[in-house]
Amino acid sequence: RQAGMRVILLERGQISEGETGHTTSHLTNILDMRQKEIISTFGEKYAQQIWAAGDAAIEQIKENVAAGNITCDLKEIPGYLISNMDATQDSDIESLKKEAQLVKDVCHASADYQESIPDLNCPGVHYPGQYKFHPYKYVSQLASKIPGNGCAVFEKSNVDSFDEKSRAVMANGYRVNFRYVFIATHVPLQGFVNTASAMLLQTKISGYSTYAVGGWLSPKTLQEALYWDAKDPYSYLRVDHHEKGDYIILGGEDHKTGQNADQSAQCYTNLESRIQKLFPKIKIADHWSGQVIETVDGMPYIGEVTEGQFIATGFSGNGITFGTLAAMMGLEVLLNGRSRWDPLFDIHRKKLAAIDDYIVENKDYPLYMAKGCLQHFNKIDPHTLKPGEVGVGNYGGKKVAAYRPEKGEHVILSAICPHMGCVVAWNGAEKTWDCPCHGSRFMSTGEVMAGPAESPLAKLPDSKG
Ligand code: FES
Repeated sequence: RQAGMRVILLERGQISEGETGHTTSHLTNILDMRQKEIISTFGEKYAQQIWAAGDAAIEQIKENVAAGNITCDLKEIPGYLISNMDATQDSDIESLKKEAQLVKDVCHASADYQESIPDLNCPGVHYPGQYKFHPYKYVSQLASKIPGNGCAVFEKSNVDSFDEKSRAVMANGYRVNFRYVFIATHVPLQGFVNTASAMLLQTKISGYSTYAVGGWLSPKTLQEALYWDAKDPYSYLRVDHHEKGDYIILGGEDHKTGQNADQSAQCYTNLESRIQKLFPKIKIADHWSGQVIETVDGMPYIGEVTEGQFIATGFSGNGITFGTLAAMMGLEVLLNGRSRWDPLFDIHRKKLAAIDDYIVENKDYPLYMAKGCLQHFNKIDPHTLKPGEVGVGNYGGKKVAAYRPEKGEHVILSAICPHMGCVVAWNGAEKTWDCPCHGSRFMSTGEVMAGPAESPLAKLPDSKG
């Protein structure tokens, strides 16, 4: 809108209701991959440029906050990389020293090895100049600046079809015509791209569920900071100061969405005992989960996927930074036909840096598809479910996913994911139906929460929910 365009924002739910509202919102240009790995895979120049791109995104956020008088608790804090959050005495000192040196030599940025970092009292790399903010406050105030002068925000407006001929989308029965479309849906909608290209992109990205617990320690004793470790999957820790004490978040326990979905509750239990080990007096208050999209080579896909259609996905643990960068790139493409960062995130890049990972990541679809087809599903009667119970099985000759909420009537859905036909699994901790093949997520009542599925789980006729 600031560039003089007429902008319409269509949001499936409410602003920040999805992954933006679940992030712990570390504003950092430090990627989930270590510098050694980035340099050996992509080269020094790339490592330097992607660091600078992250810097540019954080500067843009600071500028937005200042220019728009956005009150979102933006604050500069230090970040620390350690070897292992659970065994702080067991540090790989040489790797930490090497990481700090590479950041200085290659990225020309500040990082220093410290023998004992604050509060965790173990060796680590200190990165000054990291940021945090409140994601909901930031994004909701940013969105509130859109309406007017022919621009508008429509919430609860799911885009359910694209009309290629007239270049329009349909949402809530309304047609919105456009010249250019930015698809910012975590996993991109197919839009005007042909099915083969959409499927090819799908083979290069995977959805991972990640979990967080938060708790209070009072009085305030810790330094406000971000911490993360070098394990795979890694754990992340964040300390925020509040009047009543320190609020501490521990996150991690990532696994592929839909796989081990029944163990989600265990992920929270693990995090709770781990945070209690680190801070024995903590009082746990919250837990939540989100989903991150990983790419096969660890770098996002951002850019024009076909003429007039821009996508951005695969931000891994850097959603706020790369999400902002994607918006900046989109604007450059719209105004100039290209963005200065295009080569870093090329959607059509051919070289698969991690061919082994590519093969491993893509075994899921045939495996879970076959499992769903061959597995014997017991007969169930959804009408006998007690409040809070779920069942996946055969009912009326169909594979169904049934749920009875604590209050209300049973919901009977097709258990078949509308994306490519795998059988969904119940995620008891989040009360969602998750697909093990490509990570689509559905509400307990079947609506899409996260793609690639674009349509809901079909509701069966005698569903009362
Ligand atoms: Fe692809 Fe379900 S079959 S997400």
